[in-house]
Amino acid sequence: LSIFEKVPEAGSLADLSTLPRHVGIIMDGNGRWAKSRGMPRAYGHRAGVERLHDIVKATGDLGIEVLTVYAFSTENWKRPAAEVEGLMKLLIEFLYREIDQLVENGVRIVFSGDEAGVGETVQKAMAYAKDRTKDNHRTTFNVAFNYGGRQEILLAAKKLAAQAAAGTLCPEEITAERFAEELDTAGLPDLDLVIRTSGEQRLSNFMLYQSAYAEFVFVKEHWPDFDERAYLRAIGEFQRRGRRFGGL
Ligand code: IPE
Ligand code: IPE
Ligand code: MG
Repeated sequence: LSIFEKVPEAGSLADLSTLPRHVGIIMDGNGRWAKSRGMPRAYGHRAGVERLHDIVKATGDLGIEVLTVYAFSTENWKRPAAEVEGLMKLLIEFLYREIDQLVENGVRIVFSGDEAGVGETVQKAMAYAKDRTKDNHRTTFNVAFNYGGRQEILLAAKKLAAQAAAGTLCPEEITAERFAEELDTAGLPDLDLVIRTSGEQRLSNFMLYQSAYAEFVFVKEHWPDFDERAYLRAIGEFQRRGRRFGGL
């Protein structure tokens, strides 16, 4: 079913003529969601992954070009090894299980973050997902995994510095656009809307460069409770904001 069949008032919850091109979601609160049910954190992570199916589908149905989800930060390695291992397994499982549906829905999967820094089985699943979906054009689903905004910016700076030192790049040529080409999101539009679930109001190192003029919507729901209606409400709120980009 499309979002319009599942949520008949979709058109009034969000104005379909002024949609964001690129939405980012900081999927937070899996642990608290599980705790409130007296369950282990892993149960929350599993429920969280289940949410992705509907949200990615709705993104495509609405005609939003890009959805980026923050799935694992470079700081999340600080968590207990068993939890980290669980999150890796959930990504692998999701990629193999959902791939046929994603292909059917015209979704292209890409990743942001340090892919070389994750285990071989994770890398294999990522390569499989990218390859299976590379010819799809309806929606780009960008999974930020082992991702850190500062690390991404530093890496871009290093690559440009190396070219400058080698004499193949003139420092004056380093424009905002040229810089963006060195980021993991090269080719994708800047973020228009960043949603964070679970009440926390911070970026936690998410897409620092790309969110320069994004609108932020913070919602109380924990990520496993974030459904299509909540998604449409957040998009509706985005549409009521007055974006000025520094102008009048
Ligand atoms: C978000 O939920 C998932 C990841 C960070 C991978 P959390 O695991 O951060 O849940 P809380 O914030 O502890 O409730
Ligand atoms: C941000 O959530 C990272 C992801 C959602 C993947 P965290 O739960 O790790 O962020 P902090 O620690 O509360 O800032
Ligand atoms: Mg958290």
